[in-house]
Formats: sequence, C-alpha cells, structure tokens
Amino acid sequence: MRMYDIILKKRKGLELSKEEIEFFVNGFTKGEVPDYQASALLMAIFFNKMNKRETADLTMAMVNSGDKIDLSSINGVKVDKHSTGGVGDKTSICLTPLVASLGVPVAKMSGRGLGHTGGTIDKLEAFNGFSVELSEETFINNSNTIGIALTGQTGNIAPADKKIYALRDVTATVDNMSLIASSIMSKKIASGADAIVLDVKVGDGAFMKTPEDAKALAREMVDIGSSVGRKTIGVISDMDQPLGYAIGNSLEVKEAIELLKGNGPKDLLELTLTLGSYMLVCGKTARNFEEGKALLLKNINNGKGLEKLKEFVKAQGGDASLIDDTDKFPKAKYVVEVKAAQSGVISKINAEAFGLIAMELGAGRETKESIIDLSVGIVLNKKRGEVVKEGDILAYIHSNDESNIEKAKNDIIKNMIISNSLDKEIPLIYDIVE
Ligand code: URA
Repeated sequence: MRMYDIILKKRKGLELSKEEIEFFVNGFTKGEVPDYQASALLMAIFFNKMNKRETADLTMAMVNSGDKIDLSSINGVKVDKHSTGGVGDKTSICLTPLVASLGVPVAKMSGRGLGHTGGTIDKLEAFNGFSVELSEETFINNSNTIGIALTGQTGNIAPADKKIYALRDVTATVDNMSLIASSIMSKKIASGADAIVLDVKVGDGAFMKTPEDAKALAREMVDIGSSVGRKTIGVISDMDQPLGYAIGNSLEVKEAIELLKGNGPKDLLELTLTLGSYMLVCGKTARNFEEGKALLLKNINNGKGLEKLKEFVKAQGGDASLIDDTDKFPKAKYVVEVKAAQSGVISKINAEAFGLIAMELGAGRETKESIIDLSVGIVLNKKRGEVVKEGDILAYIHSNDESNIEKAKNDIIKNMIISNSLDKEIPLIYDIVE
C-alpha cells in the first residue's frame, strides 16, 4: 500500500477502505507517513468528505492508536460529557459535581483552551493548587469514593488524534464534520465511559455555523458511539452569544459557583439542567428528562451540588475555601466599564470575537506555550434581546494591563450590536439527537 495512492483515491472522491484508513493512521502515528502527505490527505478529505463507514473506521483507527482507559473498577454507569467548544462555557464546572452529587460517577478527561475557546482544566486551575495530574489509582479511587475525578488528556490516549489535530490546526482542515466527529469520539471512546452526552454548539462562536450542520455532526457522533456500544446523546445548543455573563477563567469559575448557590444565569442553568438530565437518564438515576431536571434543581437548592464541588476541588489539591469566599480568587488590577454608544436592543453578541478579546486580555492562549492570566476577562452586563439606553453599562473589562483596555473597549462596542429591534429569537436548545 502507498500513501500516494490513498491520497489520489480521496482526491478523486472515492471511498477509502478500512485498511487504507488504518495504513494512514498507523503510519502517521509512528512517524512513517510525513506531514506533507498527511496534510494532502486531510485536505482531500476536507473537500471530498468521508461517508459514515469511513468516519467510523477513522475513529476506531485513532482509538486503537494508543491506550484505552479501563473504568470497569468504578462502580455504576460512568457518564462523560463533552462540549464541541465555545465561549464562556463553564458548564462542566457546575454540571459534573451536580450530577455526581446524585450518585452518577463522573470520570472525565478534559482539555485546555486554545484560540478563542476556553478549557475546563485552565478554569479549574483558578483554584490554587488544583491538579489534573492524577495517577490512575487516584483517578479510580476518587471516582469511587467521592463520585468525581477529572484528568487531562494523558500522553497516550488517541495519540493519532493529537498528531492529526495539530496538523489540521495549521492546514485549515479543522471544520470538517468527519474529522471533528472522529477526533472527539476517538478520545471519548478511548477514555472508557459507558455513556456520553455531547453538547454540540452551533453559531458564530462554534465550529458548526448552522443548525443543520450541527445536527449532522451530532448524528455522526451519536451513530459512532452507538456502534461501539456507548449510549450517546447529542444536545444542540446555541453559541451565537457567549454562555452566561463571564468570559475568562476565574470569572467563569465564580459564575459556575453562583449557579450551584442558586444564583446562576438563566442560559447556563437551562443548559446545565438539560445536559445533566440526560446524564442522569444515561446513569439510570432518573427515569426521564423531567425527573432528572427536578433532581438537579433539588441538589442546587439543598446545596448538595455545591458540597460536591468542594469535595472534588479538595480531592484534587485545590483550595476549596474559595467556594465560600469567592473574593479570594485571582483578581485583575483594573475593572473598566464599557458603555453603550446608542439606545436600542442588543441584537447580536459576536461570541467568537468576545473569545478573542478575552484571549487578547490574557485569558486564553495564542499558542500551546502561552501562559494564561487566570484573573482577566470580560463580564457582560447585558445579553441578546435586552433593551439598553445610551450610556448603560454593556460589559466590564477585567485587565492587568492598562495598555490593552482601550482596544478591548472598542472591540466590545463593535461586537455587541445594538439595533432598533431583534430580528429573530434564537433558542438555547435547538434539538436533541439520540
Ligand atoms: N474538539 C476536538 O477534540 N476535535 C475537533 O476536531 C474539534 C473540537
């Protein structure tokens, strides 16, 4: 078999066999297929696409490229949750302890942020001392004793995806449905959960820009999960504005804590209840969605979700006292108001732009090596659909560098569109794919 023939076949729009896909994945992982041939094949896949069978074979080839985590010594149905990436998306921080507080074990692998999207691990590191470097024994032990454990992507989980993703990132081949579906599902399958609830984002801050594409991506991932015996559910949710009000690591953690104290923003609460209910149904703790929602609300109101977050943070070396005293989180030196230049209705908040503004303030990474500033970011004061008068506060900039405030201010004003009316209502939850 030769890479040249595989590239040519896909360039002509033909279907690749399982053996050809495995030849590429194994050869590239071992360093036998050079980057230029892998890039050419990825571009051919980007333009000519893969069918469902090819996508499933690509997924399993990437799963088999490395280790598979065995979670069988954790009691109960292990449920994982994964978001395709968004701005202000702190859902995992409030959702996972909430679900664990109801007896469904959450043994989760999370990532760091890159570009305009944030990552759960970076956010949790706002708790002084918090670590995701857990031995396998501690990971299993914490999952069994407190019902929740979180690690980073360990060295050898789906190494093929790690290499392929890095190449896609620099060859403009990220936003292809088969490549995204296989990338996410290979990591989820290799990390061992019995059931997976996917939050598939749609909108300008997401990889999928239209509900139709997001639904097709969700369908693809649900089918892959089901084909290997993992119950998989896709929730299609809005990323046409940031989720909640806070963007930036400490700021987002504080908002997630507020949710568990019963003061969460409406959209973050609705998304948490939706994803959480499906996790409880998968974990067989709730018989249906409505029952799941009621259980989650109960554990917000009685404080059990918040207590579980404290146990979780403490078990992973973090300072859980910050949960009771959120003033102790890292704080930015400057907090600056951004005011509306005109009256009207907020008709659009460009999510991707807000992710980039937060990144430029230091909240995100431009490259994998960048060091992030946990204290900085943006807190919105208004969301889409709200009426504002000229001079009203639209948002607060949290910065440690006086010189970047003016640009952030201008960018916020440019990307928070004020119109005479709202042209369409956008739902938070578009659809559920099972
Ligand atoms: N997240 C992933 O892990 N992979 C993708 O391709 C896109 C988002």
